[in-house]
Amino acid sequence: MKILVIGSGGREHALVWKIAQDERVNKIYAAPGNGGTACEEKCENINMKASDIKALISFAKEHNIDLTVVGPEDPLSLGIVDEFEKEGLLIFGPNKDAAQMEASKAFAKDVMTKAGIATADYEKFNNYDDAVTYIRKKGAPIVVKADGLAAGKGVTVALSLEEAENALKEIFIDKIFGEANSTIVIEDFMEGEEATYLAITDGENVIPLSVSQDHKRVYDNDEGPNTGGMGAYTPAPVCNDEKLTRVTNEIAKPMINELKKRGIVYKGVIYAGLMINGESIKVVEFNARFGDPECQVVLSRIESGFLDALLGAAKGNLKGINIINKNMTATCVIMISGGYPKEYKTGYEITGIDEANKLENIKVFHAGTKTENNNILTSGGRVLCITAVDKDLLSSIKKAYDGVSKITFKDMAYRKDIGKKGLKNLGE
Ligand code: GLY
Repeated sequence: MKILVIGSGGREHALVWKIAQDERVNKIYAAPGNGGTACEEKCENINMKASDIKALISFAKEHNIDLTVVGPEDPLSLGIVDEFEKEGLLIFGPNKDAAQMEASKAFAKDVMTKAGIATADYEKFNNYDDAVTYIRKKGAPIVVKADGLAAGKGVTVALSLEEAENALKEIFIDKIFGEANSTIVIEDFMEGEEATYLAITDGENVIPLSVSQDHKRVYDNDEGPNTGGMGAYTPAPVCNDEKLTRVTNEIAKPMINELKKRGIVYKGVIYAGLMINGESIKVVEFNARFGDPECQVVLSRIESGFLDALLGAAKGNLKGINIINKNMTATCVIMISGGYPKEYKTGYEITGIDEANKLENIKVFHAGTKTENNNILTSGGRVLCITAVDKDLLSSIKKAYDGVSKITFKDMAYRKDIGKKGLKNLGE
């Protein structure tokens, strides 16, 4: 089988790595891929942007690709799945209408309300004056969300009114997300602990994957600005098996059923960002793709069934397909270019990746790297994802940091407390 993976982050390296383990797969192309996908035995990078849908379709036809797997949200919201399907090409991911669950916060809130899915109360605004009057009435803490895709920067959890008003000013007056992004959702602040639920669906059947916990803030103890994610672990004790079943029945299935009523079949990954507070489980957000770095740990736990699930979802028939997880815990620590998520420098040589990969049950996924004259150089904010699996959370954390200790590059930084919340929940 020949597979095309679209995207260039740690998530896509993990997808390539996992899919390559299936004996039926003899070739994978990554578009555009990164320094890590280029090093995977069955994989070849192709120099095509993830958003160049026409070029990707031509490539898939010319190379008889059996399945295309879409990593990031941008091509999904541009309608890559609709375009591939029109050409009779098999592709894994939601179509443009379904991808609105991520691309429009207002659409997602409406679906949740109609489907009876627990989420924070909210109001929608499209001008500064009404929005500012509302937040002054409600007070802080309060959450301001830009409606459209904003590269992970569209959500402000404002702990003070000043912070909330500043977020409104940035969206409506400074227009930092552009002219088009002039609708916002203002939500009540939710107390609790966040977790990420991922599942694969064909629009009818839902296969839940292992629940994970991301670490969004750049510094230890959840301090500093939000990032794409600084590390993750799975399974997350905050969401036990009973809660996982509840999420599938009370959140994932009602979501796809509500979309079905609107004539939309949701195929691909369901990403539900959860807020768990005791027995209460509410949805913070939906995304239409695997999380990054959640994908790296969730895929590391999978024993079998992954490619069949991707194929089944893309074909609209997941019946009888199971994903089996290893009875292990996975932890991933992200190494970043110091300064990220703000200003940072790139182009520095990275050493020690091979030494880290030689450690048992460790895999170094690349995110912002490139290869030049046989050297691996930094090329982005999130650089490497050091991922370890072991018998329990404490051992997998220790192992991941053993991997981190082998790697060096100028300006490198990482959080030292990945998994700490999980250990606390386990009473360790
Ligand atoms: N790690 C958060 C996300 O992928 O959206």
